[in-house]
Amino acid sequence: MLMVCGFVKLRSRGPGAHSRSAAPAPGPRPPGPHLQPAPGPPPRGASRRQVTYVRSGRRAPPTGDRRRTPEPSCCARRGRPRPKGPRWHIELQPWAGPARSLDEEALRFLSYISTTQIACNRMSTFSLATDSSPAKQPWSVCLDDRFGLAQQIHNKQCRLYSLGLGGDDTRFEVDMARNGCEVHRFDPSVKSAHVLESQRLWHHRLSITWRDPHPAVAAQRSHGSARKLGSILNEFGHHKIDVLKADLESAEWKVLENLILENVLEQIGQLIFEIHLHWPGFEVSGSDSSVVRFWYSLLKELELKDFRLFHSYKDLSKPQLFLKKDLFNASSCYTLSWVNTRWK
Ligand SMILES: *[C@@H]1O[C@H](CO)[C@@H](O)[C@H](O)[C@H]1NC(C)=O
Repeated sequence: MLMVCGFVKLRSRGPGAHSRSAAPAPGPRPPGPHLQPAPGPPPRGASRRQVTYVRSGRRAPPTGDRRRTPEPSCCARRGRPRPKGPRWHIELQPWAGPARSLDEEALRFLSYISTTQIACNRMSTFSLATDSSPAKQPWSVCLDDRFGLAQQIHNKQCRLYSLGLGGDDTRFEVDMARNGCEVHRFDPSVKSAHVLESQRLWHHRLSITWRDPHPAVAAQRSHGSARKLGSILNEFGHHKIDVLKADLESAEWKVLENLILENVLEQIGQLIFEIHLHWPGFEVSGSDSSVVRFWYSLLKELELKDFRLFHSYKDLSKPQLFLKKDLFNASSCYTLSWVNTRWK
């Protein structure tokens, strides 16, 4: 399948088009239960994650809690306790400017994704095969001692989840496995339900979605091949992911929103996401300026959760398109890496 930054999908699904999931129709049921069945009590956060999240047509209960009220800045919420219980939508940031124009939104967003927020002194891709410097590599993790990942790798206690849609370059995963990480690659196009390719590199025929299936569908196909990330963690009995890599061909926005709304982010140490800007993305719609404001608001949520951007890679080999237009000198593809500064 052609996987050039999601352009293959542009033909069939326009912006705002509704899709059940980013993945092809589920194949045969993978045999349940999986490796490492969860012993003992469910993992921390499990109960929260079982909350059903239905976006379409539903509103947050009218509690008077006007969470849509714009926050003046990222830091206003600092120290204040988070509201308990499920969240129904992320908080939108204030408009970038009074005109609510695409120009204002795009300039704020592009500047945001191009500006790192924390210095990483030991960035690595592990790839010895390539000759370019780490700064020129899209898939980078931060190995500074203060973030603990290097130690986890050294102790062979590192876990990497890689979310893809087939046809991806897997050198990063292979290298991480070779260096001591337990790697789980989720890709609906792999041939068998679960394949152990090498000592620590698993392939699972599962795709990542951002919501529960309709109950009627769920009843018939309780082991369908599309899952929310939180459900996979529960199923596999994993409490944490040291590195989450995702190249979801425009499904990243809704998946990221789901990780935020269900508090899955707390279980993740470093995030590497390829983001796609040539169209709004799966199930993201609205005017161009409101789409960009939504993207920006999602990334601000990461900052509110103490994730810090340490690497930004602009892919110049991909079409230089921003919402289908040649604008702002933007690329349609960036790879962004964040570290969870609360990670222990
Ligand atoms: C456009 O982007 C390229 C690559 O990031 C950069 O080298 C160039 O200076 C940019 N041009 C302008 C006018 O900003």
